[in-house]
Amino acid sequence: MVELSIELGSVLLLAFGLKGLAKIRTARTANGLAALAIGLAVVGLLLQQGLDGWPWMLLGLGIGGGLGAVLALRVAMTSMPETVALFNGCGGMSSLLVAIGAVQLPTPLNLVGQVSVLVSVLVGAITFSGSLVAMGKLQEWLGTPGWTLRPQRHAVNIMLAVACLVCCVLVLKGMAVTLIPLTVLSLLLGVGLTLPVGGADMPVVISLLNSYSGVAAAAAGFVVGSELLIVAGAMVGAAGLILTQVMCTAMNRSLTSVLFGGALGAGSSEAGDGAGGREEYTNVTSCSPEECALTLEAAERVIFVPGYGLAVAQAQHSLKELARLLEQHGIEVRYAIHPVAGRMPGHMNVLLAEADVPYDQLVEMDDINPDFPRTDVVIVLGANDVVNPRAKSDPASPLYGMPVLEVDQARTVFVVKRSLGSGYAGIRNDLFELPQTSMVFGDAKQVLQSLLQELRSLGVGKVAVGSGSAR
Ligand code: TAP
Repeated sequence: MVELSIELGSVLLLAFGLKGLAKIRTARTANGLAALAIGLAVVGLLLQQGLDGWPWMLLGLGIGGGLGAVLALRVAMTSMPETVALFNGCGGMSSLLVAIGAVQLPTPLNLVGQVSVLVSVLVGAITFSGSLVAMGKLQEWLGTPGWTLRPQRHAVNIMLAVACLVCCVLVLKGMAVTLIPLTVLSLLLGVGLTLPVGGADMPVVISLLNSYSGVAAAAAGFVVGSELLIVAGAMVGAAGLILTQVMCTAMNRSLTSVLFGGALGAGSSEAGDGAGGREEYTNVTSCSPEECALTLEAAERVIFVPGYGLAVAQAQHSLKELARLLEQHGIEVRYAIHPVAGRMPGHMNVLLAEADVPYDQLVEMDDINPDFPRTDVVIVLGANDVVNPRAKSDPASPLYGMPVLEVDQARTVFVVKRSLGSGYAGIRNDLFELPQTSMVFGDAKQVLQSLLQELRSLGVGKVAVGSGSAR
């Protein structure tokens, strides 16, 4: 009875935790709730199963928990997609191992148990190898070998899938030993499906693999008879699928083109800024931080547009400081958030939250786009594709159709980046040549710090906080 209440309690806590993750304001508490749910689930399981073999459990807890903690503490925000890929892979591997372990037990499995084992092994192994490949590609340890882009790769993958199905049938017919080739073939299938995918599409694939890891976990839940694992796995599976769909829409990609288009698909240049598309710009204006500061000082409404470069430069704290200075000067400051700015969903929200930027100043694309025409100054910080007007005007562009932040409608635009290099999509950006645009070349953090210096020397922000506007 106690164990059942604990299990039910942890399922509810997990559900509340996942719900809370949908809002920035509640995300931190929600994460704590979900962690508590998992902790409770472990306690419930121990109460139910007893403490036999506790030294092994402690060893597993120490190694797994220790590695997880070190990784979480050391990982850079820009490497978060790789980390998520690795964690997904661990989830897939756990389900695979649980299923293989269940087969070794003396108790025979009924049909549901057998099918669950097969799903756990098949999906768990695909998730594991696919996630490792995704991580390797994002870390640039792995490239996209030319042969994986040939159309014949589909035939190879289909053959692997058919061979997996044949193994499943043989296992159901009592040949349990076929689980070994099934595992090997599924691992190969995971590699075969992920290796051809282009770098820019990789976060979508990671989200899909996350969904797979949920499916594998739910199947493992059926194998070991754990309701919590079934519910948690199903929620992860559904959430991953929804996120995959949202990302595809925001990046103007279809899931089929991501999965089967290979690295040659639109917008799928390999990871790395500035790759390709370096057409000559003929009419670019640039200015110094000093000139930018003078325009800022006279503005009434300012919108910052953060992008991947802001994360690379780790300039979020300098940005918050600049915003604080401007607000003290009576200037309205907001941040425009594009759904796929950066390299993972919610990247900019997390980055700015780290600097304690008030949540209500972060405005989503659809809400802020109508405000650009009445905005005096827009400062684009390390963003490129998400502000590219070509997405609206050039049907031949790989970005065509992707909704973008319409910063080109603002009165003055400053683009802070190190060069005229392209963004992830690898194409030129017409924004750079518009008459109202000035480039401020440099690392985002250095430029922001120079701006702070210039504004202070102009006397901006010399009013005590709380004493109202200086103008
Ligand atoms: P990008 O288009 O990738 O542009 C980033 C820009 O930052 C680069 O052009 C680079 O220019 C600049 N930069 C790099 N380091 C910098 C630094 N230290 N200081 C200043 N600038 C720096 O970024 P975005 O506008 O955020 O767009 C995101 C792109 O990633 C989209 O194409 C999106 O589809 C793709 N994507 C997003 C996701 C998710 S879920 N967020 C997933 C996969 C792909 P310089 O080299 O000239 O400095």
